[in-house]
Amino acid sequence: MFEQGFDNSYHPFKQYMFKKMQRRNFLSSSCKICLLGAAGFSLIQIESCSPAASVYKTAITNGELQVPVNLFEKNTLQIVRPTGWYFDVAVQKNPDNSYTALLLQCTHQDNQLTPTSNGYHCSLHGSDFDKQGNVKKGPAEMPLHHFKTSINGNMLNVHINNFQP
Ligand code: FES
Repeated sequence: MFEQGFDNSYHPFKQYMFKKMQRRNFLSSSCKICLLGAAGFSLIQIESCSPAASVYKTAITNGELQVPVNLFEKNTLQIVRPTGWYFDVAVQKNPDNSYTALLLQCTHQDNQLTPTSNGYHCSLHGSDFDKQGNVKKGPAEMPLHHFKTSINGNMLNVHINNFQP
C-alpha cells in the first residue's frame, strides 16, 4: 500500500503523510495489544475466579462467627473474614440446607485457598479440595479444617471456640 516502498525523500506532503501513517499504525497496534491484554486479563479472571463469592467481615464473638442467614439467599457460598485472622472461612449452604464451614488454609504448607466452581484451589503447589474440604489433588494429604455450625434465629453461628489458625 501507500507506506510500502514509500519514497521517503524530502517532500513536505509525503513527509506529513509518512508520519501520519506511522502514527496511525502505532496507535492501531497499541490498541490491539491493549485489547489482547484486556481480553487475557478477563480470561485469567474467569479462569482463576470462582463463583462470585462475596466476603463478609466480622469479629469472633464468644468463640463464634455470626453470619446473617439471608446472605445465602443470593449466593450459597460466603467467604467469612474473621477480624485479625490471616485465613478466611468458606461457608457453603448445601442443597439439603445444612452448612459447611471450612478454614481456607491449605493443609500442605498453609497457603490461603481460593474458591473454584467445584471446591477450593491452592495456587502455591496446586492442591485441590472439594466443597466438603476433602483432598482431590495433592500434594496436600489432609482435608481442610471444619467448623461446626448452628442456626440461631436469622444468624448462622460458626463455632470457632478457641481455634487459632
Ligand atoms: S501450600 Fe497448598 S499445595 Fe502446597
